[in-house]
Amino acid sequence: MAKVFVCRQIPQIGLNLLKKSATEVVVHAGTLPPTREELLAGVQGCTGILSLLSDRIDSEIMEAAGPSLKVISNFAVGFNNIDLAAASQRSIKVGNTPGVLTDATADIAVALLLAVSRNFRSATEAARIGEWRTWEPLGWIGQDLGSKTIGIVGMGRIGQAVAQRMHGGWNMKVLYTAQVAKPDVDESLGAQHVSLETLLAESDFVSIHLPLNEKTRACIGATQLAMMKPTAVLVNTARGEVIDQEALVEALDSGAIFGAGLDVCTPEPLPLDHPLHQLPNCVLLPHIGSATTLARNAMAQRSAENLVAGLAGKPLPYPVN
Ligand code: GLV
Repeated sequence: MAKVFVCRQIPQIGLNLLKKSATEVVVHAGTLPPTREELLAGVQGCTGILSLLSDRIDSEIMEAAGPSLKVISNFAVGFNNIDLAAASQRSIKVGNTPGVLTDATADIAVALLLAVSRNFRSATEAARIGEWRTWEPLGWIGQDLGSKTIGIVGMGRIGQAVAQRMHGGWNMKVLYTAQVAKPDVDESLGAQHVSLETLLAESDFVSIHLPLNEKTRACIGATQLAMMKPTAVLVNTARGEVIDQEALVEALDSGAIFGAGLDVCTPEPLPLDHPLHQLPNCVLLPHIGSATTLARNAMAQRSAENLVAGLAGKPLPYPVN
């Protein structure tokens, strides 16, 4: 009968579902991800793995699981941590959790955009350490939002949700990149499908919503950052590796752009001595885009549904291969 390895404690709703379909549900204990050794040992003889975005699931892990492995279910919408080709080659089904973390993640992108635009980091720090001496007519002057231009890099579900918020809330003009134009989005938001170069040059705010793959890795580098306005704010809630982080540090430090709001970085967590921690124009969050009750419960439910379907040899409800 089926054994499944769950790489971390997830909301109970998901575990309850799994327990109905598998004879053995092994949940990795503790708040940190399993070490490589723990993962290699934990998956042995498993039919299913419920992985997190912090668990690298490659052919070595699939080999360690053995021929019983039928399904890998990621507790995330992104699945760059899984070697999809290696899984497909072994006829292992892979699933993710699309749709249920769209609003939560879009909200975090907006929060970062506001926090950076209005200097939250230096202002809260000043208040905390006693450098707030009086109301300052010339202090902490930030960026206005009304009727500016938002550039959405990657107009999928989350990109569209951010565009809706910025267009509806602040009457922003929307530019976007996508593999193909999206006429329904063009119509509902008055959005324009443009090249990345045009988007970077014309946007006041740039929000990244790309999946991480070999085409998108470091696609925002020194050249692209140099195209942005010096008043522009860059937001990334996708994956850290999409940005060349050294180039970003340089752009923030030199004032080539106004600031950056990051929910993701490379690596995660970012070492404490990393220069991004020192820059007053960078707000960094510990990858909390989907961290709401609704989103996390739904992710647990969907990832469990994928696993249960895979164990039964059925098509996954949310497949990626
Ligand atoms: C979060 O980053 C996710 O991919 O779900």
